[in-house]
Amino acid sequence: MQLTDYEKRMLEGGEGPAPRFAMEVLVKLGQIYGADRLVEVSSAQIMAHYGSLHDAGLELAEKFVALGGRFIIPTTEDPLSICDRHWRDIGIPEEYAAKQERLRQAVLTLGAQPAWTCTPYLAGNLPRFGQNVSWAESSAVSFANSVLGARTNRTPAGLNYCAALTGRMPRMGLYRSENRRGQVLVRVAAGEMSSLDYNTLGLLIGKSVGNRIPVVEGLPDTTGVDDLKYLGAAAASSGVVALYHAPGLTPEATAGDPFAGDKPQESLSFGRDDFTAMQREMTTAAGEAELGVVGCPHYSVPEMQNLAGLLRGQKLKPGCELWVYTSPTVCELAQGMGLVEDITAAGARIMDGNCLVISPLGKNHYRTMVTDSAKAAYYLPSEHQVGMIYTDTAGLVSALVEG
Ligand code: F3S
Repeated sequence: MQLTDYEKRMLEGGEGPAPRFAMEVLVKLGQIYGADRLVEVSSAQIMAHYGSLHDAGLELAEKFVALGGRFIIPTTEDPLSICDRHWRDIGIPEEYAAKQERLRQAVLTLGAQPAWTCTPYLAGNLPRFGQNVSWAESSAVSFANSVLGARTNRTPAGLNYCAALTGRMPRMGLYRSENRRGQVLVRVAAGEMSSLDYNTLGLLIGKSVGNRIPVVEGLPDTTGVDDLKYLGAAAASSGVVALYHAPGLTPEATAGDPFAGDKPQESLSFGRDDFTAMQREMTTAAGEAELGVVGCPHYSVPEMQNLAGLLRGQKLKPGCELWVYTSPTVCELAQGMGLVEDITAAGARIMDGNCLVISPLGKNHYRTMVTDSAKAAYYLPSEHQVGMIYTDTAGLVSALVEG
């Protein structure tokens, strides 16, 4: 593999022991995958939640600290696996919280920005079209590749630390233009689409295309950024979709032929009946919901506004909870707009900077949850052994508030 003088110096330890360790890992990885060289990456999105990294991830982060490492590119992190405000009152064990805190302190010592979100592009980590980055978390990766037109693989946790310490990744996978061509044509004929429809379409696409790259035609002109966020998050959950194209909406497909002259390997079409069937399939519980969960991926400001409008003047039923997941950045904006007060006055909790899928439920034993997120509906039943009601945000609120 070709290395620049600077990369050789890092590999030989001239920039310190932490970059040397990281470069050894990256060069070995590149050799295994036949990369010809490394690419410069301009930002990293790392994982720092103890719920996924466990003791091995904590040891790795603390090892980089002990070696005197510093992140040399802007680096944000995925949500934590506990909420600072509420972890005690929902019964998260002290030992678990202590390890999460050690992990948080390690990545801050390494120089990460305290973003704690799966929507880092709303919290100061916003790459431009064509820029190489090294991101983790499947929904963020899909957003970076598809909606922003930046380039990243679904980088595993430890490798992202190496990228952040060196500003490099092997040139492989989605860093190479030839690996970003569309492979499956998806035609959508469903008229105007709700947020729930984009979520559901993502599930349908992921289940059908697996790890191939879909080109999605027929989305309405009214499609918004949050709609694309949900489509990508769901497709990355039911499948392994790290990049999709939508001509007229996503930049790479709009700049040129998304199939780059090739014929699609397969053509699929989805309409209203498919949406309805999938929405029914994702609802696995018949009873009343005890816990509502929104913000997977993390809620944006417009979504906080919508939820606050639905909750204003309402009260959750006795025994019902609503947990709202968002980033600390969006939470602060929502606070300034009075939205947090509307949401919490109804009895809901804001869980900023963390994520239910990767969190323990503490002392709580919920049987039935309700969510407006396809990704949450896909993972929560197996992660937390709960029944699920999958509906839109208005339906979720009406299931939880007093009549
Ligand atoms: Fe974000 Fe957790 Fe959902 S990381 S996308 S809130 S599973």
